[in-house]
Amino acid sequence: MTSRLAALRARIGGYAFGGDYNPEQWDRPVWDEDVRLMREAGVNLVTLGVFAWASLEPEPDKFTFGWLDEVMDLLHANGIAVDLATPTAAPPAWLAREHPETLPVAEDGHVFGFGNRLQFDPTSAVYRDRAARITRALAERYSGHPALAMWHISNEYGPVAYTPSSAAAFRAWLQRKYGDLDTLNDAWYTRFWSQRYSAWDQVCPPEMPRSWSNPARRLDFTRFTSDALLECYTAERDIVRGYRDDIPVVTNYMRFYQRADYWRWAREQDAVALDIYPDPGQEDSRVAASLNFDLMRSLRGEPWLLMEQAASAVSQWRVNHPKRPGRMRLGSYQAIAHGADSVLFFQWRASRGGHERFHSAMLPHSGTAARTWNEVAELGRELPRIAASAGSRSRAQIALYFDWDAWWGLAESHGLPRNDFDYPALVTEHYRPLLLAQHAVDMVGAESDLSRYRLVVIPNAYLVGDQFTRALDEFVTGGGTVVCSFFSGVVDENNQVRQPAYPGAFRELIGAYIDEYWPGRADEEFAVRFADGTACTADWWQESIHPETAQVTARFTSGDLAGRPAVLANKRGAGRVVYVGTRLDRPGLARTLLGAAAGAGVSPVVAGAPEFVEAARRSTDSVEYLFLLNHSGIEAATVPVAPGGTDLITGSQVTGPVTLAPLAVAVLAYRK
Ligand code: GAL
Repeated sequence: MTSRLAALRARIGGYAFGGDYNPEQWDRPVWDEDVRLMREAGVNLVTLGVFAWASLEPEPDKFTFGWLDEVMDLLHANGIAVDLATPTAAPPAWLAREHPETLPVAEDGHVFGFGNRLQFDPTSAVYRDRAARITRALAERYSGHPALAMWHISNEYGPVAYTPSSAAAFRAWLQRKYGDLDTLNDAWYTRFWSQRYSAWDQVCPPEMPRSWSNPARRLDFTRFTSDALLECYTAERDIVRGYRDDIPVVTNYMRFYQRADYWRWAREQDAVALDIYPDPGQEDSRVAASLNFDLMRSLRGEPWLLMEQAASAVSQWRVNHPKRPGRMRLGSYQAIAHGADSVLFFQWRASRGGHERFHSAMLPHSGTAARTWNEVAELGRELPRIAASAGSRSRAQIALYFDWDAWWGLAESHGLPRNDFDYPALVTEHYRPLLLAQHAVDMVGAESDLSRYRLVVIPNAYLVGDQFTRALDEFVTGGGTVVCSFFSGVVDENNQVRQPAYPGAFRELIGAYIDEYWPGRADEEFAVRFADGTACTADWWQESIHPETAQVTARFTSGDLAGRPAVLANKRGAGRVVYVGTRLDRPGLARTLLGAAAGAGVSPVVAGAPEFVEAARRSTDSVEYLFLLNHSGIEAATVPVAPGGTDLITGSQVTGPVTLAPLAVAVLAYRK
């Protein structure tokens, strides 16, 4: 069976291009101009109705679909497909007024009032009932509409609530997980500080504690919250699917979003969709953007949807810089290079009022005279040239571990040797040298199949489960290479220290034990020397390492642990493990990771390109597409590539090395 995403692609005929369209913010005559300009810009898909609950149901059960009927018809008449949203991310004022119990309550008991959005408790039965009613009404009315191409459920799921309803749902979740209280008491190690529970009704969400609360309880509440939000999604998904089964149902994810375990969520969706807003004020934000794109592709191992990006400035930073000319185009191709099958924006027309009135749009306040409009419309007209590459896939030989349990373990755990771990930042530091050396990288989670990779990189996985520990060991003994960073494999799924320590899960894997963690002092740097004489520095973290089967490949040459191991290499079965027991500086980490990649026989996508060139491959059974992106705003770059391809954007033949002007993009197609 073709996937629902493939069906959407076939209908669109290539890359989806468009964005959030909020006609309810505008009077009727504006809509005609909207569709005329959409056609001019090559828009083929718009997301409709994301925040339209109050316009669709101004009073309970009184639906006003007339305006939406007209918009759907108008879009269809102009050949524009619709990604129709359920509006449940922004409940109307009447719900807050009549049912204040639907509002979320923070950890400290503070109730979030009406006037923003996402003001709902995901466990509230009343909220879920009202969300189901509007969803059903929309599905009933529009499932058969010819414009409908996809369902967009709610928007950026995120609220957490410390309410009586949340407490009841949390208890039910725990009962399903642990069965009885003794098991829960053991898992939460409640023998510490007299926290033992003797009846289920004593168990609550971890409200604001006097000082520090139980780390296993916090961890479970975080897992529960991700599941409660996912239930809101699946409830609405099942309703719309009941009316029509052949179109994709999605919701939109956020960049490095801590509250939802997207590995679990991705299984419940027809496609992964991402909203991304790299800060144009920070040149380096392109590294984390590519990492997030690779994560999105890896979650389902297939193309994904870039659901929202900004045409230029956003309105969420302290200072909101515009994207310099050419940057929006480059960022759009960057997403495509990493597997996106769409370029969609928030939003079509810039709002006149409301919080996001200065957020850029495809059609800015100054209309078609604006620079942004021209760049958007040019991109919309250009994308059809690379349409054949939509739907193509990629496969890397390097896997980078990114796991929500590992993240939550660090984030929900006060009382660690240091309490300022920034998991996404640490993962990004491991990704950076691979990206800058034009390596292809997939992300993996605790349940991913590792057998297809040559190198697996495990950054700071403090918490690991037994299943992953076993899978990793099998991968190594079977001949794989692992690079594992400090403070990994330390605790089990219940946030309890694995023994014998440390790292209880990985002691045999790394071939050493650690008897003490030794965080660095502020501004302290340690000199590190590799066995071949190369030197670098490290900071932030050290460990007192005792090799058992491992060889020492680098030692500290200054500081408290001078002379002691900093980096190890261990042979295990047919494989090899490099353990990095400190935070190496960028050259030190790059050398370690690139050395491991070369040792594992992994070649980059292109060789001999400067760091500011990004390279990625996508392929189908018959064609390979090579994407080359020059991120430098000032330097041109020449990239050695094989002759014989076609540059899809210019139509020219590739006869030798390709030269990319600053910010230029090339998409080269090679027949296999
Ligand atoms: C997204 C959100 C949109 C809009 C946008 C602005 O996170 O889904 O509704 O607020 O940010 O950047």
